Amino acid sequence: MSFEAMWRDLHDVGRSASSGGYFRQPWTSAESELRAWFTEQALARGLDVETDGMGNQVAWWRPSEASGPAVLTGSHLDSVLDGGAYDGPLGVVSALAAVDVLRARGFSPSRPIGVSVFTEEEGSRFGLACLGSRLVTGASTWADARERRDRDGVFLGDAVAAAGLDPSTGLLSLDDVGCFVELHVEQGRDLVDRDVAVGVASEIWPHGRYRFDFEGEANHAGTTRMEDRRDPMLTYAMTALAANKQARLAGQRATFGRIEVAPNGTNAVPSRVTAWLDARCSSDEALAELVDAISRQAGERASRDETSLRVTPESVSGSVAFDPDLARDLAGIGDWPIIPTQAGHDAGILSAAGIPTAMLFVRNPTGISHSPDEHAETADCLAGVDALADTLARLAR
Ligand code: GLV
Ligand code: MN
Ligand code: MN
Repeated sequence: MSFEAMWRDLHDVGRSASSGGYFRQPWTSAESELRAWFTEQALARGLDVETDGMGNQVAWWRPSEASGPAVLTGSHLDSVLDGGAYDGPLGVVSALAAVDVLRARGFSPSRPIGVSVFTEEEGSRFGLACLGSRLVTGASTWADARERRDRDGVFLGDAVAAAGLDPSTGLLSLDDVGCFVELHVEQGRDLVDRDVAVGVASEIWPHGRYRFDFEGEANHAGTTRMEDRRDPMLTYAMTALAANKQARLAGQRATFGRIEVAPNGTNAVPSRVTAWLDARCSSDEALAELVDAISRQAGERASRDETSLRVTPESVSGSVAFDPDLARDLAGIGDWPIIPTQAGHDAGILSAAGIPTAMLFVRNPTGISHSPDEHAETADCLAGVDALADTLARLAR
């Protein structure tokens, strides 16, 4: 099945009729459908499919003459809430299409090639980014992870079991993996500005998610004098402004994209606001400084508002420098530029686990991502498939 046909297959899965965006949260029916689709595509190509106890998958192309450390490629199929079509699936579909291209060229790998799908990459349901690859590499443990709850209070352990999976049956082993290459839609406009369809990643900025719990006092919106209030919404609002200002001053990134308010009534001063800060910086030190500066200003504001504040890191990923020799070698295949990214990826987790890792980016004409408007032109996607096929041929020759 061609790239375009596979892409059409996925069009309706988990898609919102109102926004056109995707809700492909892990261990939901949309994700089960995607996992079944991947299995079907892999089997149709004669690949051996391995599905682990969390739902991570690898489809192996292992001709009898292939031996030695494997070349792993792939990405993820889950999405953020109301996400785009490309973030994740482009890497998986391109990997399957690249296998077809290599076969059509008569290429037979001398090392096994695996097409992988890691689960809960976005951390959209349980708050920990790259959960599947973290568990597989040992960066997180199942004993800790299983206690995490989603927005409805469902434990991760129960969600996985309800999807018919059982982590005690084991997780993927990456012991025989020699290198990993993830193809991904670009989440910025670097390639547009350079007028090229494909790029190679140099590094991932360190980034993290931090929960800010602001507590105040619920009271009547009409009868409580302004000077008598202990309003956590006010503390939160000033914190959001401070985060924006601090990030601008430091040349870094800070976003509050999610809040919960209790009791969330129009005619009451709220008792509690919980807000999540996403912060990303060019170095680990800059990230620590930025989060400190925002937390300090939030704390000062809380004192003035007579509210309280607790800050809890929920998902922190250190800086990742991809293997520079590998990046240079791959960039040489097509004279592709080597560019950094501020987005997190399973490739970062595998790299941090000591696996030589590279990423290929495919041009995104607007740079928009984590939005239904995310896009890549088909011609660029096909250029990405060819680039990935050339890359796999180089690594598995
Ligand atoms: C994942 O795409 C992230 O960067 O949050
Ligand atoms: Mn992604
Ligand atoms: Mn993403």
